[in-house]
Amino acid sequence: MYFNKDICNWKSWGEVFQDKEAFSPLAMAILQQEGLPPLPLENLSPGTNAVFRSGDVVIKIYVPAESGYDSLSDWQNEIAVMQRAMELGVCAPKLLCAGEKQDKYLFRYIVMDFCPGREAGDAFAGMTPAERRSFAVRIGEVLKKLNQPAAVAGKDLKKQAAENEHFDCLHPHLVREIKQRVAALPLDEEYVLVHGDCTGENVLVNGTEPMLIDFADCTLAPAWYELPAAVFELFRCDPNAVNAFRGETDEETFLQKLLDGLCIHQFGGFILHDFFLREGYALDEVWSLRQLEFILRQKLFDIGNISDCFSSAVFPDLTGDILTDARILYLANGRTDTLNHVKEVAETAVELAERFGAEPEACRTAAILHDLAAVLSRETMLQTAKDLGMELDPAEEQFPMLLHQRFGVMLARERFGITDSDILSAIGHHTTLKKDPSDIDMIVFLADKIRWDRGTVPPFLPVIEKGLQLSLKAACLEYFDYVTHHSMILRAHRLMEEAHTALRRDRAKGTL
Ligand SMILES: [Fe+2]
Ligand SMILES: [Fe+2]
Repeated sequence: MYFNKDICNWKSWGEVFQDKEAFSPLAMAILQQEGLPPLPLENLSPGTNAVFRSGDVVIKIYVPAESGYDSLSDWQNEIAVMQRAMELGVCAPKLLCAGEKQDKYLFRYIVMDFCPGREAGDAFAGMTPAERRSFAVRIGEVLKKLNQPAAVAGKDLKKQAAENEHFDCLHPHLVREIKQRVAALPLDEEYVLVHGDCTGENVLVNGTEPMLIDFADCTLAPAWYELPAAVFELFRCDPNAVNAFRGETDEETFLQKLLDGLCIHQFGGFILHDFFLREGYALDEVWSLRQLEFILRQKLFDIGNISDCFSSAVFPDLTGDILTDARILYLANGRTDTLNHVKEVAETAVELAERFGAEPEACRTAAILHDLAAVLSRETMLQTAKDLGMELDPAEEQFPMLLHQRFGVMLARERFGITDSDILSAIGHHTTLKKDPSDIDMIVFLADKIRWDRGTVPPFLPVIEKGLQLSLKAACLEYFDYVTHHSMILRAHRLMEEAHTALRRDRAKGTL
């Protein structure tokens, strides 16, 4: 017996699959049997299977069935794909041999030559714009070579997409649109061999031609299945690279194919998740494919801006200083009242921040910007919500002004360049709050109530002050209790109901 560890589930595989010592005797036996020199193992970037370098070769040992995962089809597919890639002249590691070894478990393996090179993701980061463009063109050529008909196993892409749970971390409305888009795709193009995971780690650069490695996710699909990994993970949405890669395809066609690819791709959810985090979006901030289109059009092609929708408002040139710019914007749109209100809210927010140990500057910024959407008319907000495919809460349908907290976030990001998710969240929940609010969410929420813009002393001021003697949460709860009891809320927003319920629960548990 060459292999002595126990594999009884996925976790036990996870513990051992990168362990050189555990795999060394087995790997040596396989190499010897194949007539290759049994040189010591070195670790390589971890994937799913056990992969080691041994001298000039790479040995990949597939996870055995005892892990609970049957790797037979992965193994067969990878062999078929590597052979086809060699036939097509794609620059990729050469498959030297493949087989099965019955040991403690049945281990399937492949051996390929080791290709020295630098991961393209790292290399790309250090390239000049011109180098990025020519690199992207070369990637396009490599994929074109690979994207040919092939006799390898395909998958039911629509079924895979319908069952894909990786999108579930995103806004439910966006997820529904993604599933609907996939269901409606005609998929009448020719299916070709696709690498499917052309990321910065799976492309190596050393000579002139980029080399593709790791064919584990290869499948048959329309060629645009390659786009999401290449655009998001390899080019990191760099406009230089994306536009060179796009070639003759016009921007809009390319964008739509990219979205098709994202929606149907097995890793589409992970790709979007990472993209949103890199760009500073909260995971549930993007509600619709329309909104995503705007974001990508801006990012990839530098055209359009989400706030172009807001044609009814005047957007003067900005200076870069938040207070000055907010002032210019409010005044240019005739909102002196809002300017005065936000200044008061900022003053109270800073006091609360100092009293409760939150960051005064973040609170001030959020407070100054919280009512940015006051420059938009009710009609503009409703129309834009429709254009962007936003799903409305029944309360927002009845009282469109409630939408101003959501549009405030868009304006803060697009017009003021705010990417701090705490600040954006405080703006986005200043009317309703949300469950599990942060201190800054509560501070801006409370300051907005304390300094309400109706020219009178708010009737709930005493209860908020009473609550503040205990905590921010207690003050929020006092406010909700008061306005509910006095029927001041005509139609509660889902977020408000959730916030209120969670705070009541905290009171019951004694954790206010
Ligand atoms: Fe407001
Ligand atoms: Fe306000």
